Amino acid sequence: MVTGPDIDIDATHDLYVGGEWSPAADGGRFETENPATGEPIAEVASATAADVDRAVAAARDAFPAWRDTAPDERGRIVHRIGRLVREHADELAAIESLDQGKPVSQARSDVEGAARYFEYYAGTADKLEGRSVPVGPEQVDFTLREPYGVSAQITPWNFPGNLFARGVAPALVAGNTAVVKPAEQTPLSSLRLAELCAEAGVPDGVVNVVTGFGDSAGAALSGHAGVDTLTFTGSVRTGTEIMRQAAGNVTPVTLELGGKNPAIVFPDADLDAAADWIAKGIFTNAGQVCSAADRVLVHESVREDLLDRLVERAESYELGPGRADPDMGPLASEAQFEKVRNYVDLGREEGATLAAGGGTPDREGYFVEPTVFTDVEHDMRIAREEIFGPVLSVISVADEAEALQVANDVEYGLVAGVFTSDVTRAHRLAGRLAAGNVYVNKWFGDTNQTPFGGYKQSGIGREKGLEALDSYLQTKNVAVNLADGDGADLPGA
Ligand code: NAI
Ligand code: MG
Repeated sequence: MVTGPDIDIDATHDLYVGGEWSPAADGGRFETENPATGEPIAEVASATAADVDRAVAAARDAFPAWRDTAPDERGRIVHRIGRLVREHADELAAIESLDQGKPVSQARSDVEGAARYFEYYAGTADKLEGRSVPVGPEQVDFTLREPYGVSAQITPWNFPGNLFARGVAPALVAGNTAVVKPAEQTPLSSLRLAELCAEAGVPDGVVNVVTGFGDSAGAALSGHAGVDTLTFTGSVRTGTEIMRQAAGNVTPVTLELGGKNPAIVFPDADLDAAADWIAKGIFTNAGQVCSAADRVLVHESVREDLLDRLVERAESYELGPGRADPDMGPLASEAQFEKVRNYVDLGREEGATLAAGGGTPDREGYFVEPTVFTDVEHDMRIAREEIFGPVLSVISVADEAEALQVANDVEYGLVAGVFTSDVTRAHRLAGRLAAGNVYVNKWFGDTNQTPFGGYKQSGIGREKGLEALDSYLQTKNVAVNLADGDGADLPGA
């Protein structure tokens, strides 16, 4: 058992299926580790296809009663989850920080966001209205918004608990039941959240958690005929594979697949503020954020001024284990550490200039320094591929047209930022940037209430906001005939 001032973590964890804890069918377990040290924290059950079958069956069994629970009651239960998340915020943040590596104050903010998802969607439970359609005299036509059934949620390791809430909250208020498969690197917060769901009054089987690996538990879930809708956040490669698996059952998918997001800085911008936002945008959570500020596209006339500010900020970061609440923690796993290190080497080989960082501190754990590359050319791989680490690429551009062209000329289209004091230019670019979210003079300009998702390969569908409910509700049209006769006179006959 791992203990700390504010947490006790059991040495072993089972699967949460049908309101009960049970080991994997074959007894298999895997270790989750603390990325600040590489030490194991706990052993977690490794779900097999048989366990996924069991979890989907439990969710299917629980569905009719949950669907038929009065919407206001569903809302009250989901709101109670939010309250319990708040009451356990310190504990949840400590678990996340330990298992994932992020500074505990960032984990705390993720937990706050998780509570907000439950609160926000709770309020929508009794407002999921259809509409009436005027089709003609003596006819009544209206739509109903109905849940799909079983929602599969495959989540990544960068915001584990927060993304559990982002998917489960809208799924539940809409009347679906859920099977969550957290990432194998960071299973602990999802297991604790499942307990809080039960404590809030979520009936058995409505929320299930199957911990395990992508190619076993994940693949079994995404190809399962008993899953009615699937939500995934992660890499493009895995998202593509999941779509392929889901296609076999024509299961609809909502995919959020990361980005290579541009921050465009014009000479009329407040450069100090822009540098602050961009540093926050790329170094928060050690850069393991789908909406990170990956690329700075700066007008050549202010390139040096901006670069100095970015380097100063990068060099001011203190690194340490998440629970000590440093400026930046380690990367979440050894695999991610190796990936990021390889990209730093690649940047050097491609001819970019290292302006800050680039090294790995001489200590245990998966730490990489905040890194700034300048003289980056748009066709370099470090400027086109998602690194998912604290590595910023600074590209200089000659004018607005070039900025826009470079910004849009990648396969991703998740978020984009514009830093300028010219309101006309800001709106012009907001209209032309190929991204699901545009930030003007800020970064991370998303809240629980705002729709979030990608253009191009950054995904399908939207999370957050009222738009997310579209992933959890299907529309039924009901046509009622009030007229006598055989209908030969009706519209469309
Ligand atoms: P991944 O996309 O493979 O993993 C995300 C989730 O998918 C995990 O729960 C994993 O177990 C599951 N998964 C993996 N293979 C699966 C399969 N065949 N069927 C069903 N589920 C499967 O991401 P990975 O390998 O951990 O990270 C690689 C890169 O992905 C990162 O370096 C980053 O570029 C990107 N990524 C993007 C995220 C985002 O927020 N959009 C989050 C995590 C990773
Ligand atoms: Mg871990």
